Amino acid sequence: MTRQTLLLGQTLRYLADPFHAGLDDSAVWDSDGAVLLADGRVADLGSGAAMRAAHPQADIVDYGDALITAGFVDAHAHYPQTAIIASWGKRLIDWLNSYTFPEEMRFEDRAVADEIAARYLSLTRGHGTTTVASYCTIHAESVDAFFGAALESGQRMVAGKTCMDRNAPDGLRDTAKSAYDDSKALLEKWHGCGRLSYAITPRFSPTSTPDQLAAMGALWAEHPDCLMQTHLSEQTDEVEWVARLFPEARDYLDTYEMHGLLGPGGLYGHAIHLTPRERARLREVDASLIHCPTSNSFIGSGLFDMQGLMAEGQRIGLATDTGGGSSFSMLRTMAAAYEIGQLRGNALHPAQLYWLATAGAARALRVDDKIGNLAPGMEADLVVLDLASTPAIAQRAARAQTPWEALFPTIMMGDDRAVREVWIAGQRA
Ligand code: GUN
Ligand code: ZN
Repeated sequence: MTRQTLLLGQTLRYLADPFHAGLDDSAVWDSDGAVLLADGRVADLGSGAAMRAAHPQADIVDYGDALITAGFVDAHAHYPQTAIIASWGKRLIDWLNSYTFPEEMRFEDRAVADEIAARYLSLTRGHGTTTVASYCTIHAESVDAFFGAALESGQRMVAGKTCMDRNAPDGLRDTAKSAYDDSKALLEKWHGCGRLSYAITPRFSPTSTPDQLAAMGALWAEHPDCLMQTHLSEQTDEVEWVARLFPEARDYLDTYEMHGLLGPGGLYGHAIHLTPRERARLREVDASLIHCPTSNSFIGSGLFDMQGLMAEGQRIGLATDTGGGSSFSMLRTMAAAYEIGQLRGNALHPAQLYWLATAGAARALRVDDKIGNLAPGMEADLVVLDLASTPAIAQRAARAQTPWEALFPTIMMGDDRAVREVWIAGQRA
């Protein structure tokens, strides 16, 4: 008989998207809950007493009043930027040229890539993140390093070789042909290997020639089950630069669409400065918009229109965008999403923030049938949160009248100290 583990604690699971369903209909919070794990999956859920009686053979792990939920999903990050997080004083293009490109150059050395990939996965797991969609560098070895480390940790991960054939320094450019060939070889090597999936990754229109974008579009057409990740309309000077580079395009999104890079399974990072046409097209094809709030304030990009985009029915995920983002933590990222919402006159509810960092991000990555929620059959990637992890948080949570009010101080002030334990595919990480 397979070994079963019964986790006891508070549990939070979603029945529906809290942006579109009523709060009472979208989430179930059980203050005396239990989650049964077997064969790497969630086998059953229920109240503590009933689950103990129903599964007397299971090993018990009692977390007291800690909160058990799906692990965090980070829908856009750059693992190679781990060591340059929190670099001072630049906006997007200068930040790329001053900090990012020199650092990414170091990944030519496989040993550097291996070291940073292991460091990144350890840091993010320590913050409760179990799945990431990460960019690598232009070096194929940087993809091997990341997926190799993820295979070892057993995590569900999405990544791809970043492609750039112009407006990047010597040593950090490929060509249209080599980007196609290398991406294809990496895709064939890693896509579907265990829990890994490959994302075709043109960095953004300014660093790809039309030929390279077309080659990436051709590869995506050959492998439509792969995700495609890129950046879209992050800063206004970037949008103007794209207009100069692609005078024939109707707008920034069109530079992708013209080359076969718009579709479901497309992940568009930032998506701040969008025209009505771009919004309509993104909605029409059901593409994913990835909100990167710590990055958008840190690099000075702008205020994502969560309320308007959600009201239109856009598919939206949440992400750190490490190292343009200033944190590895999805808790801090939820706090930043709250703050940006407030600056736009829209206070996001903790149920919405937490959904964005779990089920919503999983939905953006089109893996919400596998991860991002607690439900029988889901892969058992979990985070266990202490909702009183610091004296400041504990004293505020002690005043709470509702579970959401008890969670909110951890969202706003929590960090890796709030992460009691992480489970990956039913195993303690
Ligand atoms: N646009 C193109 N590349 C990047 C990157 O690495 N980080 C961010 N934030 N924006 C980008
Ligand atoms: Zn990014």
